[in-house]
Amino acid sequence: KTFLGLRNSTAGHHFENPRNVGSFKRDDPYVGTGLVGSPACGDLMTLQIKVDESGHITDARFKTFGCGAAIAASSLASEWIKGKTITEVVTIKNAAIAKHLRLSPVKLHCSMLAEDAIKSAVQNNKEKKAIADGDVA
Ligand code: FES
Ligand code: FES
Repeated sequence: KTFLGLRNSTAGHHFENPRNVGSFKRDDPYVGTGLVGSPACGDLMTLQIKVDESGHITDARFKTFGCGAAIAASSLASEWIKGKTITEVVTIKNAAIAKHLRLSPVKLHCSMLAEDAIKSAVQNNKEKKAIADGDVA
């Protein structure tokens, strides 16, 4: 069975019942915002992380304007990154997301969006922290 390219109920569960949908205030100094788009299809994903002083992600929110696979991938990614450090989460690979959701090969770029969104959110958080710490003029 395929449903929007999702091959099993596991992915369906993240598609039908996505976790952590929403947003945080962008100007919150502890929030990192990642915004990525897919050149392949024009879909957009915003992933936000809340990072504590020790570099742990305490919470995450996403908004995805895209296909079912992209929504499921962002939902799964938002669950995986909670409780991990920003150093750990940048090693999460789209292949692992795609495997967990059992995405079909044509849907691989959808999970790539989630990998890129994690990296982008971490990068944004680091930049904001550097500015807050006075490391950057
Ligand atoms: Fe929902 Fe793994 S697919 S937790
Ligand atoms: Fe482009 Fe899924 S079809 S993100």
